[in-house]
Amino acid sequence: MSDKKILFSGIQPTGELHIGNYLGALRNWVELQDKHDCFYSIVDLHAITIDYDQENYQEQILNTAIDLLALGIDPKKSTLFVQSRVPEHTELTWLFNTLIPMAELQRMTQFKDKSRQNFNNINMGLFDYPVLQAADILLYKGELVPVGEDQLQHLELANTILRKFNNKFGEYFQKIEPIISKSARVMSLQEPNNKMSKSLGTTNYIALRDDEDTIRKKIMSAKTDAGPQKDGHMSPGVDNLFTLLENFADEKIVKKFNLDYHNGNLKYSELKAELAQTIINTLKPIQDNIVKLEKDKDKVKKILEKGAQKAKKIAENNILEIKEKMGLI
Ligand code: TRP
Repeated sequence: MSDKKILFSGIQPTGELHIGNYLGALRNWVELQDKHDCFYSIVDLHAITIDYDQENYQEQILNTAIDLLALGIDPKKSTLFVQSRVPEHTELTWLFNTLIPMAELQRMTQFKDKSRQNFNNINMGLFDYPVLQAADILLYKGELVPVGEDQLQHLELANTILRKFNNKFGEYFQKIEPIISKSARVMSLQEPNNKMSKSLGTTNYIALRDDEDTIRKKIMSAKTDAGPQKDGHMSPGVDNLFTLLENFADEKIVKKFNLDYHNGNLKYSELKAELAQTIINTLKPIQDNIVKLEKDKDKVKKILEKGAQKAKKIAENNILEIKEKMGLI
């Protein structure tokens, strides 16, 4: 066995990943592969806690896998698998359910937000979502978890669960540490006060699969100046365009536009044209990979199957140990 630390992260299979996912987390996932023993899971059980399209769900899962492989997740280095293919995730969730007070789950801000957005379907799964997330990580005795800031509360909860487990049944789990991606949060192009997200509609995000024309159109119509801001800050839309530029373009170009902005002669059309082009250039190799993988879906399915087998071996072993500790065996 290697002495590398175990790292776990998950992504919901929404069918098409966007540059917010890429800069916020996935670029980091790729880099981390060389340093740690990485488990990356397409968390299909999490995604069904809100309304979803079962007709297209298998395709969405496969597309998510294709996007992940295309942007550099390497099955030789990492274990890439679909969550529901390893039923121990749900088994451990149940065991953890018996340790965590409901009051702790009622505090979760994401549950409150999602309940507001999905008031017609506030199901038990949505409430239990963070416990499943804790089970994902701890089933592999994960210690490192790269996530966006919005997931920190869930990781705290996972630490609460493992502390309760260790206190009650003896030391078993190591504390979980988040790895927060360096890059700033990417915001919606149309509603720059909100995080870039698929749920806001297609004009709000740039998908990894968007073609050149679409990328140009979306960037050109992005919100910019919203009038004077408090303390002389940039408008949220402009700030977001600069964030994107910093992440996609050369430093020199960023400097030039920054200078223009501070001298009051920034042309948004120029900034946007430059930004669109750098995004197009950055996505090109990823999109070439997507085209190749789309032609060989069987290969992608095999990769996922192998990943699930690898994950399952470890999961089976660990769940036995956990059940033994809890007196179930
Ligand atoms: N809740 C995470 C998100 O929406 C996805 C997720 C599920 C996850 N299980 C995880 C992230 C385990 C990190 C670790 O982004």
